[in-house]
Amino acid sequence: MHRLLCPADWTPHLVQELERSFPATVHQIVRPGRVETALPGGAGHPLPPLVFARQMLLAPQFVEFSSIRLGAERLAGQLMAVLPEGQPWQLHVEPDYGSGRAGQHRCQLLREGLDEQLKRTRRQVLRQRRPVAAAFAPEESLVQVLLDTPDRGWVSVAVAPLPYVHRRVISPFPLGEIQPPIDKTAPSRAFAKLVEAECRLGRSIATGETCVDLGASPGSWTYVAVKRGATVTAVDRSPLRVDLMREPRVRFHAGDAFTFFPDKPVDWLLCDVIAAPERSMKLLLDWAFARRMRHFVVTVKFRGDAEYPQLDLLKQRLLPICTEFFLSRLCANKNEACAFGTLR
Ligand SMILES: C[S@@+](CC[C@H](N)C(=O)[O-])C[C@H]1O[C@@H](n2cnc3c(N)ncnc32)[C@H](O)[C@@H]1O
Repeated sequence: MHRLLCPADWTPHLVQELERSFPATVHQIVRPGRVETALPGGAGHPLPPLVFARQMLLAPQFVEFSSIRLGAERLAGQLMAVLPEGQPWQLHVEPDYGSGRAGQHRCQLLREGLDEQLKRTRRQVLRQRRPVAAAFAPEESLVQVLLDTPDRGWVSVAVAPLPYVHRRVISPFPLGEIQPPIDKTAPSRAFAKLVEAECRLGRSIATGETCVDLGASPGSWTYVAVKRGATVTAVDRSPLRVDLMREPRVRFHAGDAFTFFPDKPVDWLLCDVIAAPERSMKLLLDWAFARRMRHFVVTVKFRGDAEYPQLDLLKQRLLPICTEFFLSRLCANKNEACAFGTLR
């Protein structure tokens, strides 16, 4: 049994997405934002992206403990039995109750208790723990603790390479939540979408790379790409912020994003055009099948809930031609989803 996490109001959309993707499986809503399911998929069968799932506990086991010390002892014992020797792992310990600081405090105590236990019995295991918030490496395991109450909850240990294999649905960020970065000098807050996509992809735009940014105005995505040292062809009907229009590494092209094609393939297609979802998806598929780019970050914007199932087309068409493919409603997204990845 797996446990999927999403914001409460996405629950019906997640269940519908599961029903379309896995019609033979029963999916049970535990409560809004928490869905239990048993998806087919082991190390040899990576799970496809789930747009409406923020996080997944791959193998949750119910735990109950009467004190932090006992909880930490039991957790340490469980980890020592399964974590591969000498390999890195990440730890997420999060409260799934209340909204105040009490739950956070309880989790902090449990983390500290676990550290104490491991220091005493298995320092080597403790040394292998990596800081949270980086894309999973194939040799990395993930331990998730989700407390339903101060003394009850779920422990899921996904042993390497499972977090990496199922990286489209298991997030390296606790609860799948990424704090929006702050950059007051960006032209708009839209830059957070691109930064979040880079984080999940585990790859950032790099110095010397080439980008086409479709629907670029006022220029936040172009701004991020320029900051990374890339050169950008920015396409929009409206100009970018003045400083970006003067930036030597930006070539502005005034015109229609849907009829613009680069002279030669670029490293990144960036696209945040406001358009009907089918138009943005067709643009992405056309570019991908014509191999006009290597990596892509494309938002698909919705007018209403009824359009969400259209995204299934991207899963069907892009999964086979990508080495990396994510399709997610990002923390920084409004009523839109983001497709990002790398072509094979
Ligand atoms: C959400 S904004 C893009 C924000 C941008 N990513 C940023 O970070 O600043 C969408 C942009 O798409 C542009 N747009 C919409 N339809 C377009 C089209 N057919 N061709 C070019 N640009 C278009 C709009 O002018 C608008 O600037």
